[in-house]
Amino acid sequence: MLSKPQDYYDAETFARIKNFADQQETPCLVFDTATFTRQLDNLMGCFPYAKTYYAIKANPADELLAILRDRGCNFDVASRYELDKVLAMGVGGDRVSYGNTIKKSKDIRYFFEKGVNLFATDSEADLRNIAKAAPGARVFVRILTEGSQTADWPLSRKFGCQVDMALDLCIMARDLGLVPYGISFHVGSQQRDIGVWDSAIAKVKWIFERLKDEDGIDLKMVNLGGGFPANYISRTNTLEVYAEEITRFLKEDFGDDMPEIILEPGRSLAANAGILVSEVVLVSRKNRTGLHRWVYTDIGKFGGFIETMDEAIKYPLYVEKQGECEEVVIAGPTCDSADILYEQYKYELPLNLASGDRMYWFSTGAYTTTYSAVEFNGFPPLKIYCI
Ligand SMILES: Cc1ncc(COP(=O)(O)O)c(C=O)c1O
Repeated sequence: MLSKPQDYYDAETFARIKNFADQQETPCLVFDTATFTRQLDNLMGCFPYAKTYYAIKANPADELLAILRDRGCNFDVASRYELDKVLAMGVGGDRVSYGNTIKKSKDIRYFFEKGVNLFATDSEADLRNIAKAAPGARVFVRILTEGSQTADWPLSRKFGCQVDMALDLCIMARDLGLVPYGISFHVGSQQRDIGVWDSAIAKVKWIFERLKDEDGIDLKMVNLGGGFPANYISRTNTLEVYAEEITRFLKEDFGDDMPEIILEPGRSLAANAGILVSEVVLVSRKNRTGLHRWVYTDIGKFGGFIETMDEAIKYPLYVEKQGECEEVVIAGPTCDSADILYEQYKYELPLNLASGDRMYWFSTGAYTTTYSAVEFNGFPPLKIYCI
């Protein structure tokens, strides 16, 4: 099915993005800062009690970071390179959380020296490194959650630890002279089942109580992670519904004794604001009676569409040509057979689609430019224009 612009953008926004995009060489990502700002306002309005730590990895364009900086937002940073970027924009280390549980000692020290005092962890080895390189710092322990079946881009196996180990790490943090500050989790990116937050928050509540009652440790913060939705082909509940439900879960578990709440949104802020424009390179069939046309376009997995791996994220796709449509396979431009975007899931594209026609991929503002290879097959990294 071809997607309709009006299902994703208001007419004025779509016209503005398309008019700009149509002046540019393909492929490129056109990012609408007004839409991004709206998404941010909406999120902050839905969770008025929470602090926002933007997950820079979703889209680190300077224009976005400046908007977040000026709104007083904080930053979830994954590496010293992302840290340097926000520091160079005038953001203090006190607005940064080192959210990556996998980090080198020398990088921990670098963050600490730059004034960062909030570190994620999920292992004893990392915790000991933090204690040495960032003495006295605040740490939060990331726990494993369920939800990998219902998230389009699961994150919960590589990161996080079991609840028992989280208890041990909080106690060890205190004994190493650190401040056991809170618990975090990430239910998986583009999480469709809001109920997954319920069981995660219940686990967190149990950890809070257990540490207070048995070890005199008073945790202060819950980090609810990302996982909030963008508008792709398979629709989700609205952010308002996520917020209502998650707020209810928090109230049920914590009542009036609400801890500090942190959110780490990436996709839900950046995705909808971007339209990636590509061009049809070739349309072909594999034999005279082949049932499916292959549409090769100038954006592929290595140009930034990594999240089409296993066809996990299905971007809404629009082309201007109308008329009878037929199922196609869509593939990228490189000489790598892994560079097929969609083969199981069949987009239907017009029979008259031809080389040179443009393809408009909606909701591509997150996890595209950052995933783009630097020179695979000689293709340059995906260009972004912020308008
Ligand atoms: C630690 C952490 N926080 C937040 C995010 C952002 O999640 P999302 O894009 O689902 O909002 C990620 C994504 O990988 C992450 O690793």
